[in-house]
Amino acid sequence: MKLKGFLVASLLLSCLAATSQSITFSSLPRTIIVSASTTQQQVLKAGKDEIIVTWSLNTTLQDGTDMTYKTVKIKLCYAPISQKDRGWRKTVDNLAKDKTCQHKIVSKPYSPSNNTFTWTIKKDVPTATYFVRAYAYNSADEEVAFGQTAGSINLFEIQAISGRHFEFLTSRHMTPNQRGQYNPTCQEDFQLQFNYRVLKGGESTLTISWSLNATSSAGIDTSDYRTVEIKFCYAPISQKDRGWRKTVDELEKDKTCQHKIVERPYSPSNNTYTATIKKDVPSATYFVRLYVHNSHKEVVAFGDTTDAKKTTNLFEVVAVSGRSIGLDVASVCFSAFSIISLFGFFILEKRRAKNK
Ligand SMILES: *[C@@H]1O[C@H](CO)[C@@H](O)[C@H](O)[C@H]1NC(C)=O
Ligand SMILES: *[C@@H]1O[C@H](CO)[C@@H](O)[C@H](O)[C@H]1NC(C)=O
Ligand SMILES: *[C@@H]1O[C@H](CO)[C@@H](O)[C@H](O)[C@H]1NC(C)=O
Ligand SMILES: *[C@@H]1O[C@H](CO)[C@@H](O)[C@H](O)[C@H]1NC(C)=O
Repeated sequence: MKLKGFLVASLLLSCLAATSQSITFSSLPRTIIVSASTTQQQVLKAGKDEIIVTWSLNTTLQDGTDMTYKTVKIKLCYAPISQKDRGWRKTVDNLAKDKTCQHKIVSKPYSPSNNTFTWTIKKDVPTATYFVRAYAYNSADEEVAFGQTAGSINLFEIQAISGRHFEFLTSRHMTPNQRGQYNPTCQEDFQLQFNYRVLKGGESTLTISWSLNATSSAGIDTSDYRTVEIKFCYAPISQKDRGWRKTVDELEKDKTCQHKIVERPYSPSNNTYTATIKKDVPSATYFVRLYVHNSHKEVVAFGDTTDAKKTTNLFEVVAVSGRSIGLDVASVCFSAFSIISLFGFFILEKRRAKNK
């Protein structure tokens, strides 16, 4: 009786172990030949360009290799260069956990030859370098083989419809904001003398308010908006001849906005924050920018207090030890001039596609 029980138990256990055993990528044979219409390092536009994928069984293999193949899924996969420092795109040998190939191109019944599919790159594909991989599945929907376009060659780049580029920011997503609240008397003085506000490092405060622009964000999925980060950014006049403040298209390298004011959880409306200008903010002319981050800490939207040319609504910070002509006149107006409103922020990159 005892022995029987033991046998049943161990049988059950081994069954469980067998069914929960995960399929590893390294265990799959590479039996499928895949090619894509892309050329090495080609740059394609999401939402617009097409990729033609063809695949077939490698005919030099022995007959019956593909006996268990039932379906084929073609996927878009991140090249190592686009996985670096991004845990959410990581390659894991256990296929259930692998994050390399997150974008499905197509799923088809298996056929050993003459397979071709023309795919218009979906709008939600993020900017990155990719290759194409095919997985063959058996009737239990388990991966049994694969094929792919690339090792380190045959990679191509996709640029998201709204990539994280300033070009895009300035052309389509920055709007003027003229809604700062001014003390009329002081404003007149200021417009006469400087045409912008002067704030004192370590002393003046600045009230910033922001909300989602319902018009420009209509139809855009904001469900993965997590945090907002508000920064002081150098106006062009204070960047001139200063490489260390340079505006660069690529956000990782951009030096425009170096002074973080605050980070807050995202909320679409009724946000207000009053900042005291820190003492270490150098004397310069600034505007305020807000970045929205998603759950992967990627920038997905932004707003500016200034216009596309960065000429309106600028303000000057005078560092503690700094001097500025007219500062005494200006100081009278500090409190009156210290409100900046940031109306509306705009979509910069569509939400990353969910793993399908
Ligand atoms: C087809 O399979 C053979 C044998 O495994 C291999 O040598 C050859 O490189 C494969 N052909 C392609 C195009 O992958
Ligand atoms: C593949 O397609 C070509 C042309 O469309 C056709 O001549 C050939 O018979 C097809 N081969 C198979 C195995 O279906
Ligand atoms: C909101 O977006 C629309 C469309 O882009 C724009 O016309 C409008 O000025 C924006 N509103 C504010 C307050 O920035
Ligand atoms: C925003 O705040 C005002 C006043 O504090 C309140 O009346 C309004 O309901 C709030 N709106 C939202 C969307 O929370």
